[in-house]
Amino acid sequence: MQIFIDSAKLEEIKEAYDSGILDGVTTNPSLIKKAAEGLKENGQNLDMADYIKKILATAKTARVSLEVTEYVYDKMVEQGRKLFKMFNPVAKNVYIKIPANPSFEGEKGKEFDGLRAIKTLSAEGIPINCTLIFTPEQALLATKAGAKIVSPFSGRIDDYIRTLNNIPFDKSDYFPAEGKDGLNDNGIVSGVDLARHIVEIFKKHNIKAEVLAASMRNARQVREAALAGADIATIPFGVIKELMSHYKTREGMRNFTDDAIPEYINLTQK
Ligand code: G3P
Repeated sequence: MQIFIDSAKLEEIKEAYDSGILDGVTTNPSLIKKAAEGLKENGQNLDMADYIKKILATAKTARVSLEVTEYVYDKMVEQGRKLFKMFNPVAKNVYIKIPANPSFEGEKGKEFDGLRAIKTLSAEGIPINCTLIFTPEQALLATKAGAKIVSPFSGRIDDYIRTLNNIPFDKSDYFPAEGKDGLNDNGIVSGVDLARHIVEIFKKHNIKAEVLAASMRNARQVREAALAGADIATIPFGVIKELMSHYKTREGMRNFTDDAIPEYINLTQK
């Protein structure tokens, strides 16, 4: 499974890249906002174009998703084209993120505007990551339209199932892949189950698009996404750290460090 970082913070992307584990970066308007707020708090000026170029240069060969903020077909296409043209030349690693269905309260955008934008941009050779996927059906149609990556939001499905059933939770709380007490969202019992359904449908129908498990909230959920066959998981920096953390590893390090005798240490200190 490929590992992407779900962040627009340059220092997090750099640290993950330098550790040798990074296959990609996903951003969205909320993550860009957080990164921008961080910079401003530190008294740094934000030159958005320059900042994104730095992300792309830092990620090097790792693929970077940049999302459109428009929600009407023509404007999404125009923005997608411009983002790709401005930023893909830096490292040839840009994917444009288009929402599965950009219509929302107030009738902003239309039901099929996302699919139409995916179709148009894909036909121009712009690789698309279709985002805000909450059903296997949305994933299937996104790939029909040409999306190369589909992004089911696993954590948010877990949130939704718990909220519908008045179960209190914190954002990082584990929710089992196999679900709980028969609770479900139209047959989907958890966020990882959503990713698993998509993986199975793609296998059965020989669909080549990649399944990117997004909205990952804890290490166990990442493990379950890998077991479910997700091609990619995009993971916040804090959860990437959690993937490497275990009490017995820390304890073992302490013991080995305490036990190291000078004769052995000195071998390599001359
Ligand atoms: O990858 C999508 C992501 O940024 C959303 O994550 O935790 O806000 O649901 P979250």
